[in-house]
Amino acid sequence: MKKIFLTGITGLVGSAFTVALLRQRQDYEIVCLARRNPVKTAMQRTCDIIRDECAFDGCPEAADAIISRLKVIEGDVVTLDPEAMAKDPILAGTDIVFHCAADVNLGKDKTGKTFRINYNGTANMVRLAQLLKVKEFHYVGTAYVAGKLSGVAKEDTPIDSGFNNPYEESKFKAEMMVRASGIPFTVYRPAIITGRRSDGRIRKPLAFYRILEFMGKLKSHRCSKLGVKPTEYIDLNVNFNTIPSDRIYFVPIDYVQEAITALFQKPVENRAYHITGDSPVSTQQIDDAVCKVLRLKGVSVDSRTATPEMDDKLMGRFLGDLLPYFSSNIVFDQTNVRKALGDKALDWVYGVESLEILSRSFYQDYFPNVEWLQEVAASK
Ligand SMILES: NC(=O)c1ccc[n+]([C@@H]2O[C@H](COP(=O)([O-])OP(=O)(O)OC[C@H]3O[C@@H](n4cnc5c(N)ncnc54)[C@H](OP(=O)(O)O)[C@@H]3O)[C@@H](O)[C@H]2O)c1
Repeated sequence: MKKIFLTGITGLVGSAFTVALLRQRQDYEIVCLARRNPVKTAMQRTCDIIRDECAFDGCPEAADAIISRLKVIEGDVVTLDPEAMAKDPILAGTDIVFHCAADVNLGKDKTGKTFRINYNGTANMVRLAQLLKVKEFHYVGTAYVAGKLSGVAKEDTPIDSGFNNPYEESKFKAEMMVRASGIPFTVYRPAIITGRRSDGRIRKPLAFYRILEFMGKLKSHRCSKLGVKPTEYIDLNVNFNTIPSDRIYFVPIDYVQEAITALFQKPVENRAYHITGDSPVSTQQIDDAVCKVLRLKGVSVDSRTATPEMDDKLMGRFLGDLLPYFSSNIVFDQTNVRKALGDKALDWVYGVESLEILSRSFYQDYFPNVEWLQEVAASK
């Protein structure tokens, strides 16, 4: 039996990986580090999330068996003491560390929380892994360690091209620390994680989904001002003040789950893998899909708008941290992924149809009581 010490099990990626790996392999057990919340212990949270993930993956019956192979240590990557934790008998004989926990806030980091979790937290995990003498360190990074790069980002040679936010910088520095740790490593770098390929659904909508939420609310608000039913088409006349791009790497959660789980089982070769797919979408495609689903006209993406209107300013305030990802000119090289998983793994396209499906499923799942959204999301 191989023992993994894993962080981030309650998150989108960590839960998906755990369920997929433990379903495929009987020879792994997982000890995970999880936080409690005011009402639930770390163990209760972990069990609930594994049940949710199993239900999401269409295998609710697998949950009990998976939970029986999990042990939970309650703790925080920032405050844990590696020297003390290395002596915990639960961790004796740990073979592998899989470090997935992070703060995925893309905004300002006024209190330094994002940096502490992503950088100091990784430093603690690396130190712990060294003390435990593990054989492999697996680290979930981000494709956007490429930051402000324009052009091809190689998998194996991350370079500091300047960063759009403290999140990217903290993840870049943390990855460099993993690489320098002396422990054999694998780095997985997802791009913008979105709904699965089959039906667009996602267990935990992050990042891009804020745009969908905002656009729905904006339409509601505008319609009540105009005295129009929100199920009607309206001209919103708003602009996203950014440079349009055709290099937006939306990556479906089921591909992230499959690719990371498959790569994890390959020999560790001190490599990084872009978990981005090879079929980026464009701002125009996103605009078209969202406008079609919400029945909107007049949503533009243009950095040259001289005098932003009120709603444009509001969009800048609420969504400004996401805009760099919608004007990106990075091409994520797939050499290592192709070599490890074959061309077939990348044989999928996330086009306008998938964008529409993911938008509809988001409104259906997360706004069940908003009648007009249910109506527009259900109609094709
Ligand atoms: N989601 C994306 O689009 C995306 C894209 C690229 C890369 N990534 C990377 O993928 C990894 C997983 O992110 P995700 O998408 O799964 O995000 P997520 O759903 O927000 O999960 C983050 C996980 O980290 C845990 N965590 C945060 N701070 C912690 C702390 N101080 N101590 C212990 N655990 C802590 C969270 O625990 P709680 O439940 O207690 O908060 C949660 O389990 C991250 O490394 C992220 O950088 C994500």
